[in-house]
Amino acid sequence: MKILLLGKNGQVGWELQRSLAVVGEVVALDHDDGGDFTRPDALLARVQALAPQVIVNAAAHTAVDKAESEPALARQINAATPALLAIEAKRLGAFFVHYSTDYVFDGSGSQPRNEEAAIAPLSVYGSTKAEGEDAIRASGCQHLILRTSWVYAARGGNFAKTMLRLAAEREQLKVIADQIGAPTGAELLADLTAHMLRAARVNPSLVGTYHAVAGGETSWHDYARFVIEFARQRGRPIQVAPDQILAIPTSDYPTPAKRPLNSRLSTAKLQQRFGLTLPSWQQGVERMLNEIL
Ligand SMILES: NC(=O)c1ccc[n+]([C@@H]2O[C@H](COP(=O)([O-])OP(=O)(O)OC[C@H]3O[C@@H](n4cnc5c(N)ncnc54)[C@H](OP(=O)(O)O)[C@@H]3O)[C@@H](O)[C@H]2O)c1
Repeated sequence: MKILLLGKNGQVGWELQRSLAVVGEVVALDHDDGGDFTRPDALLARVQALAPQVIVNAAAHTAVDKAESEPALARQINAATPALLAIEAKRLGAFFVHYSTDYVFDGSGSQPRNEEAAIAPLSVYGSTKAEGEDAIRASGCQHLILRTSWVYAARGGNFAKTMLRLAAEREQLKVIADQIGAPTGAELLADLTAHMLRAARVNPSLVGTYHAVAGGETSWHDYARFVIEFARQRGRPIQVAPDQILAIPTSDYPTPAKRPLNSRLSTAKLQQRFGLTLPSWQQGVERMLNEIL
């Protein structure tokens, strides 16, 4: 089975190169080797020539604040090109895997949302990701859309690394405490993708949209404290005292893009339908910290 992986060097794309290798023959592309989402004609020609049985799209415009000032580019990468890919997948009879986000919701309330909850994005990023989802569902191709949140990976920059750097340099840190979600490892998403893809290809009743995040919930503030205390206990040089990691509201840290406060996503559908277990967010974050420290 030939699998075309797009966005191979992103956090999730990198891990998919590993996890999909046991599912089929992976042809992985990035924007500089024929997989550029801003050149859809060339990309579609490449897809047609490869004629894969599966297309996995891990490419996206993920710079949430930047997207506010370049909505056309964000729409092209997050919605228009994925829509064309989904139509091509339908034509080829290929299975399409795509990722979306908690940012399709407005983050009101304090309960976890399920897949049927009404979407109401607050940002250009969230709107364009929602448009991408809709187009894929409308194309009629066999698909899995995995909505995830707060993605991190050991490779490249991430929130934990930033907190560790700041904690080593400063005596006080201020971290947002009123956004609640689940830090989710790119490794976990890639492993889920491989399992779900294998099951859904032979059981079409499993196709659809799923929430895919690690278990439990936290705030950015508690996440930062978890990371810093983990490093302190392992003897890393940390300047900031535990009581100097201060909790601030989102309103104290204005950004171009508005973010949802409640990013809780219910994963009951995924766990029940696929018989999979989602480990706690701490498990994945500890693993990442052990790797980077
Ligand atoms: N990161 C999160 O916290 C988060 C949360 C919820 C959902 N998601 C979703 O999860 C999926 C994977 O995200 P991620 O965290 O792996 O993001 P990422 O690390 O930013 O990876 C996205 C990849 O897309 C590539 N890309 C950007 N513009 C492109 C273009 N014009 N053509 C082709 N490729 C292009 C990027 O390349 P360059 O870096 O070279 O531009 C990058 O390799 C995305 O669908 C995202 O929306 C992410």
